[in-house]
Amino acid sequence: MTFAGLFRRAAPEALKHQRKVAILGAAGGIGQPLALLMKLNPLVSSLSLYDIANTPGVAADVSHANTRAEVVGYAGDEQLGEALKGADVVIIPAGVPRKPGMTRDDLFNINAGIVKSLCTAIAKHCPEAVINMISNPVNSTVPIAAEVFKKANMYDPKKLFGVTTLDVVRARTFYAAKKGLSVEDVDVPVVGGHAGVTILPLFSQATPKATLTDEEIDALTKRTQDGGTEVVQAKAGKGSATLSMAYAGALFAESCLKGLNGESGVVECSYVASTVTDLPFFSSKVRLGKNGVEEVLGLGALSEYEKKALEAMKPELKSSIQKGIDFANQN
Ligand code: NAD
Ligand code: LMR
Repeated sequence: MTFAGLFRRAAPEALKHQRKVAILGAAGGIGQPLALLMKLNPLVSSLSLYDIANTPGVAADVSHANTRAEVVGYAGDEQLGEALKGADVVIIPAGVPRKPGMTRDDLFNINAGIVKSLCTAIAKHCPEAVINMISNPVNSTVPIAAEVFKKANMYDPKKLFGVTTLDVVRARTFYAAKKGLSVEDVDVPVVGGHAGVTILPLFSQATPKATLTDEEIDALTKRTQDGGTEVVQAKAGKGSATLSMAYAGALFAESCLKGLNGESGVVECSYVASTVTDLPFFSSKVRLGKNGVEEVLGLGALSEYEKKALEAMKPELKSSIQKGIDFANQN
């Protein structure tokens, strides 16, 4: 017997594809629930759980769910190559989370090195994989990954994604609650980056459309921008968003898998190499396909409020990008 709400059957077409997903940082706060959600996803045939320690236990636990994916746990540097070999999608939630009073940029000193070493291994063992970067500060870790891949001569900008889905998930939740809408029907694009004012929800494009006062737009925008901090404060020193992030990460990874499998009309917001603004990386709607990014979509019509916020975020986003590039090239 299965619980129909969690056990999902894939369309027969999808089952023809063998898809390996690797999670790096799989024993962590995000990694563990994300491992479970990917085990429940029928598009996954092989699930590789890597961390510096404790993954054999997580893998043994998750592997007992009676779903399609074969699960293997890998622990320690010497097993990283095997964990990555043949991966179609690599999800990276490895690194330290924030404590109250910290910005995401305060994580740079530790997480930049972790991301750099993991991306060096990806370049060697699964250069074709689609990368879902969760580790913060995303505004800098994605440029670090790009530089590492360029040095290894395998950089494909279509395959590198900063995961900003949690911002979209939050904007949908807050908008639906404010306007009394059914949250399942709501969508709100979120553009820019993934830190403070660089997170810009476009409530002027929210669907279904509801009337918002200027005060409501400002409050919803600020709540979305501060959503991560809201969780960090509530957890009071025990980390940042893990469960909602696992949910958002699973949604995004599923869209990547659907795209790889050739499904059409798969669109997500993500932080990618972009010419939508004058910044080299920017989050906007992206159409996903067999090669990763099929098309980076434009911003659409912005309200005056959004136009101002877009210009205001640029200096911070620019310097976070440059910080990542400099780190990758200096160390
Ligand atoms: P956590 O400390 O609970 O887990 C991190 C895991 O990474 C640990 O198990 C740790 O052992 C592992 N790790 C450390 N170095 C590693 C390495 N070299 N190789 C493999 N694994 C390694 O932290 P968490 O709450 O899961 O958060 C992880 C990261 O995700 C943080 O940087 C956090 O800021 C970020 N995050 C991003 C978003 C987003 O929206 N993009 C949302 C929430 C959290
Ligand atoms: C989030 O948005 O929840 C994450 O980026 C974690 C954090 O530090 O806020």
